[in-house]
Amino acid sequence: MAMGVLLLMHLQVGLGLGNGGLWLPTENGGTKWALLIAGSKGYENYRHQADVCHAYQIMKKGGLKDQNIVVMMYDDIAYNPENPHKGVIINKPNGPNVYTGVPKDYNGNDVNKNNFLAVLLGKKSALTGAGSGPNDHIFVYYSDHGSPGYVCMPSGGNLHANDLSQALKNKNAAGAYKNLVVYVEACESGSMFEGQLLPSNIGVYAMTASNATENSWATYCDTPEYNTCLGDLFSVAWMEDADARRPGDPETLGQLYDIVAKRT
Ligand SMILES: *[C@@H]1O[C@H](CO)[C@@H](O)[C@H](O)[C@H]1NC(C)=O
Repeated sequence: MAMGVLLLMHLQVGLGLGNGGLWLPTENGGTKWALLIAGSKGYENYRHQADVCHAYQIMKKGGLKDQNIVVMMYDDIAYNPENPHKGVIINKPNGPNVYTGVPKDYNGNDVNKNNFLAVLLGKKSALTGAGSGPNDHIFVYYSDHGSPGYVCMPSGGNLHANDLSQALKNKNAAGAYKNLVVYVEACESGSMFEGQLLPSNIGVYAMTASNATENSWATYCDTPEYNTCLGDLFSVAWMEDADARRPGDPETLGQLYDIVAKRT
């Protein structure tokens, strides 16, 4: 199990941390952490857990250690009776098995908002081991359904924007990261960060699949035999960009935003 919290990317300039930076060492000795969470369960929601498994592969390729990656997913897809290829999860047609090596940090009903917030805050009462420190880089990625002001969890109630916002502010006040980047794929996901929910002075950069009033969209829904969608549009946009990038080929968050926005 990964300890405490979380991320990942190497700061380029200002808030510009590139996915390419995944392959660079942190210059200040900070640790890169990732917290990856799928908020759904059920075969019809195959795509969210596929997204999260894919994100795990990107973190690994970027050099993060398992002890610094926390994966929260219900884990009912790989061996779901409806899955035509047992033990395999793909995130695009004919794609690689992204389930390979995915750690079982939090599965089933342990995927809930209380555990998510505890992991985010590195609460030692809820976890073993140390949390993140002031030089650390943290990446948080969420994929699932949402509505104005909240995103879903497979159990234990929804995660509300106020609670996430307060957790980020508390974590900043605790000096528990240098930079934190959070990506959220969900309908109306912009509502998780708008206005005072995300102050500009806490070192957090958020990118969402949609604004506060629009849907986010599934993709890769026509693959024969699957009868479900394999990915989400925003998620595969940032992840396939990361897949295509070579080590030492950095990109700022702003550049990535432009690429993802255009494709999505
Ligand atoms: C949110 O997205 C919708 C649909 O694309 C668009 O019509 C609307 O103007 C956007 N709202 C803002 C505040 O940008």
